[in-house]
Amino acid sequence: MPVSVVVDTQWGDGGKGKFVDAVASDMDLIIRFNGGANAGYTVVVQEVTHKLHLMPAGILHEGKMNVIGPGVVYDLAIGQEELFLARRHGAKVALDHAAPVVLPIHRAIDFGRETMAVKMAIGTTKRGIGPCYEDVASRRSLTLGDLVAKKRIKNTLTSGGYWKEKIALSRHLQLHRLDLSDLQLGIDPMSFDDTVDWCMKYALPVREHLTDTRALVHEAFRKDRKLLFQGVNSILLDIFMGAKPYCTSSICTPSGISATFGIYHFDRVIGIVKAYNTRVGGGPFPTEIDGEMADLLRRRGNEYGTTTGRPRRCGWLDLPALLYSCRIGGVRELVLTKLDVLSGLPQLHICHSYGFQDEFQTLTKEILENARPVLVSCETWNEGLSGIKNVGDLPPATQRYVSKIAAAARLPITSIGVGPERSQFISS
Ligand code: IMP
Repeated sequence: MPVSVVVDTQWGDGGKGKFVDAVASDMDLIIRFNGGANAGYTVVVQEVTHKLHLMPAGILHEGKMNVIGPGVVYDLAIGQEELFLARRHGAKVALDHAAPVVLPIHRAIDFGRETMAVKMAIGTTKRGIGPCYEDVASRRSLTLGDLVAKKRIKNTLTSGGYWKEKIALSRHLQLHRLDLSDLQLGIDPMSFDDTVDWCMKYALPVREHLTDTRALVHEAFRKDRKLLFQGVNSILLDIFMGAKPYCTSSICTPSGISATFGIYHFDRVIGIVKAYNTRVGGGPFPTEIDGEMADLLRRRGNEYGTTTGRPRRCGWLDLPALLYSCRIGGVRELVLTKLDVLSGLPQLHICHSYGFQDEFQTLTKEILENARPVLVSCETWNEGLSGIKNVGDLPPATQRYVSKIAAAARLPITSIGVGPERSQFISS
């Protein structure tokens, strides 16, 4: 199957990175097409835990080619750390010339807006994602290709009054009055000279990896090489499909691949679905639970943000949201993750509907806020699942839970995650 896509069908953090890492050894190219360092994925290899944000999860595999496409907003400091990690693992990395650079000022603006919004804050990761994509849309952002020469960096930053506008916005947000120390920017984000020097500091390793990644991907596609596109964030957080304003700023569906790489053929579109739901940041979450039950799920599933360390909000599996995601994301099969977390829970529920009938409704903020989730109680099980290798060996109650999800989504579940290790997937 030459072209595979992996996307998250919930509000992120379903374990895409772990799945991509598990299948990477069978792929020729592992490609990121959207988002930036707002993503976070934890991969455990031989008991060593790696927390990645920017590079595809294939960087932990010797000899594998990992690609950062032109639609990924690239954080130079985090990128450098992960480039070194890739090198240590003997993996290859291609960075697209056109990938936009997230500047310290983007991160400061993100922080400033969230601070100013107070109760209306979205709860962004403060990684500068929105402000950087704004500059992509206004066709002015600095790109990795600009890092080949100091003069080019200066030209791009000054052309058409770009930097002056950034400073005007910074003043409006009163960034100079805010304590930005938590952002650990290392420079004054409003200083032009510091920003240019900061770019130069990271330029050298980037230059060695600059590639026309569209050409690389198309050539591989033509030669029937195995391509794996790793989506980040999630379909429910997509800039167009998500519930505005509680979403991110990139295209998270497979159409992000078409938009930025010009690839329109997908053999497999794999949707990651965690056995329960979580959400970080603000926004409506119809199946959210609180109290002891939420604490238990959070503890057992280690539900703390990889990027921000924030405790994730926890809830029951939301089938209407899953159906919406699969439909608009073109998902054709599911990978169910973290099923082992549910072992030994005193109760287990699943949301079958929002109390209204329209299957094709767009899940806007208003629809999600007004949802009256209809919960159905499921049988619980006590047995641990971590050592299980075959679906048939799962406890009967667990098998019924899995079948319920597959039947509701009308999609096959092709793999099931039963533990944090790369090897802890059951094929079904
Ligand atoms: P931003 O992408 O940092 O602008 O954040 C926008 C919203 O998307 C916030 O609610 C974030 O918590 C959420 N978000 C962004 N990336 C991820 C992710 O990878 N997993 C979960 N939530 C995310």
